[in-house]
Amino acid sequence: MSKFYEVTPIYYVNAKPHIGHAYATIAADIIARYHRDKGDDTYLQTGTDEHGEKIQEAAKKEGISEKDFVDKYAKHFRDYWDKLGIDYDGFVRTTDKGHIEAAQYALSQMHEKGFIYKGKYKSTYCVGCEQYLTKSDLEKGMCPVHQKEPRIKEEDAYLFKMSAFQETLIQKITDDELEILPKSRKNEVLTFIKSGLEDISISRPQSQCSWGVELPFDKDHTVYVWVEAFLNYITGIGWPNNMKKFRKYWPADLQILGKDILRVHGTIWASILLALDLPLPKRIFSTGFLLSGGRKMSKSLGNVIDPLEVSGKYGNDVLRHFLFSEVAFGQDGDVTIERLEERYNSDLSNGLGNLVQRVAVMIDIYLGGKIPKGKTEVDKKPYERHMESLELHKAVEYIWSEIQGLDQYIEEEKPWQLAKEKDKRLKDVLGNLAISIIKLNEMLAPFMPETAEKIDKIYGGSKIKLGKPLFPRLEK
Ligand code: MSP
Repeated sequence: MSKFYEVTPIYYVNAKPHIGHAYATIAADIIARYHRDKGDDTYLQTGTDEHGEKIQEAAKKEGISEKDFVDKYAKHFRDYWDKLGIDYDGFVRTTDKGHIEAAQYALSQMHEKGFIYKGKYKSTYCVGCEQYLTKSDLEKGMCPVHQKEPRIKEEDAYLFKMSAFQETLIQKITDDELEILPKSRKNEVLTFIKSGLEDISISRPQSQCSWGVELPFDKDHTVYVWVEAFLNYITGIGWPNNMKKFRKYWPADLQILGKDILRVHGTIWASILLALDLPLPKRIFSTGFLLSGGRKMSKSLGNVIDPLEVSGKYGNDVLRHFLFSEVAFGQDGDVTIERLEERYNSDLSNGLGNLVQRVAVMIDIYLGGKIPKGKTEVDKKPYERHMESLELHKAVEYIWSEIQGLDQYIEEEKPWQLAKEKDKRLKDVLGNLAISIIKLNEMLAPFMPETAEKIDKIYGGSKIKLGKPLFPRLEK
């Protein structure tokens, strides 16, 4: 079975991504690894979103051309994901020639079919969000995020006939043909669509935004960055040139994104696909927001958590375990270094690390390192159910309940006593523990790939290979 996962491309202006930006990408990596381990033909795509007014402005500030600006950061972002151990298969830069051409092809198709037409558009537009705001988005006439009055303007523009898709979208989302998760978010999107989908302006005059993809049927306009960036999801897997690859992976099994951009995916992106006569993704999952100390992460509040700093100090796996044990996947959650250290000590140092080391040492001392055969009651089914339903935190919780179960087994069987009494059962008990740890490790691997490899080194052969403790206690 082929599986296709996508994460929204990161935006170039976030040159120093914080942990919230990396969150959906790490989640997608976990899910993709789970499916690869199961033997599914899995393709994980991410990328960078490189056009638009914001980038035009940022480049100007640095006094360089837009092209130099995005090229400068291109490597930077890949390095980010590489350092965080993201095992992606495809990486789209929206300034790639192939993407631009395919995006233009999509636009001409939509134009030919009458879904793009010329008109006037009166907009309430927030430059900071790079999004049109509706009346209900505003708070006291201002953008609630940027605390600025949006621009109101009437302009010549091309419009996308999104209104045409209202009923189809309601039906497909209601019936879970396009499944939006968590369920509460599905209802939010549905309520929004039911309140009326309006046609939206999808172009900018070149004079306003020249750093964008030109409309193929009117070179005086560039396409609104969101519409163009969405298209990366299909251009990255070969549409429309490599239809063999495209058909293999599309529709995506899952698209993961933050809650701030769910609505545009559930409306604009889904409508674009319908206009192109393409199937909708099977699932869209919206992550909650990561807060720090109860507040939105922001440079001015000084509560930004830099994922590279955390991974450099504690390791990637510690960060991954923390994020998916601490925060219920799909909900907002608070993340602080204090909590990360608490979890490190309780779950990793005292929990997993201690179990792995303790059993290895006992096999080493009592049995000369030879790993005996054994049986395990560790059951992967509940874990698999949680993974399939994208309840990642429950999957982690389940692994740790099994760790506790094994700790309890040790306390009950007291192998040290069996060794002292030269009891034959010693071999069975240690064999059962070893095979249980190996099975546990299979569940752990998507979440903690580096650790899983270490555990595999210790237990993967016929003899124990003792190593250093996996998670030495943090000294205060
Ligand atoms: N480039 C657009 C997406 C285009 S889709 C065609 C974008 N980029 S972003 O860099 O601003 O955000 C990247 C991802 O990080 C998005 O999924 C966004 O929702 C997510 N997050 C940004 N801050 C976040 C938190 N504090 N917590 C969790 N995720 C958040 O949007």
